[in-house]
Amino acid sequence: MAKKLIVANWKMNPASLKEAEKLIAVYKKIKLKNIELVVAPPDVFLEHLSASAAAKGYGRLRLASQDIFYKNKGAYTGEISPKMLKSLGIGYVIIGHSERRRFLGETDAIVNKKVLAALKTGLKVILCVGENLTIRKKGKKAAENFVKTQLQRDLKDITKSQKLTANSLFVAYEPVWAIGTGKNDIPEDAVEMAIFIKNFLKAKSYKLKAAYVLYGGSVNSKNIKNFLKYKDIDGALVGGASVDIKEVKKIFKQLK
Ligand code: PGA
Repeated sequence: MAKKLIVANWKMNPASLKEAEKLIAVYKKIKLKNIELVVAPPDVFLEHLSASAAAKGYGRLRLASQDIFYKNKGAYTGEISPKMLKSLGIGYVIIGHSERRRFLGETDAIVNKKVLAALKTGLKVILCVGENLTIRKKGKKAAENFVKTQLQRDLKDITKSQKLTANSLFVAYEPVWAIGTGKNDIPEDAVEMAIFIKNFLKAKSYKLKAAYVLYGGSVNSKNIKNFLKYKDIDGALVGGASVDIKEVKKIFKQLK
């Protein structure tokens, strides 16, 4: 991927639609040829923000949901389906974020169902994987084995979906200990893991000709370039810094 993909994961921020409009206006002004930009606001703002982006003819900004359910309709109170997102013109979905895995009981089996449903509906998937600190402390091999198992489980039966291409699946490597903590992974370690993930995805079972891997975990204007300068890191998933207007401006200034 020649361009780098930046995914802004707003998480459960900001607190109001008014603030969301203010924030998205900053993203709409970003027009960098080398960057593909995806913004993931809370679902409740998606329709409004996508309608206003379309109305203003803003072509480059893509929107994502931060999660989906794995059925397209039915008695699943509180859930949002892949088809509903598709009908709003939303093209991407983040699946398996570690906050959902840790705090909301999302298992690999659930993540797998969501990935299959999203791909079937034609949504591009940003699949989050990553080890916790206990595992990382055991060393590189332990971290790689953990991530490999996550990928095997999360992508189970994926070939049946017939929809998996390099452009429909982006793996976000986010070491759990680096998320929201201000502690980045060492860029060289992140690159090694990115290469490991790519080799895994290109191996026989998935038959992907290319695979794209993003890095996430306390990415901000001070460190983003340290990660994106490597050809094997195809982009970044930015959380906390993506809802701070000053930081957003600084980040994209860095990437000019
Ligand atoms: P962070 O979050 O940038 O705040 O560490 C990243 C993420 O959770 O996707």
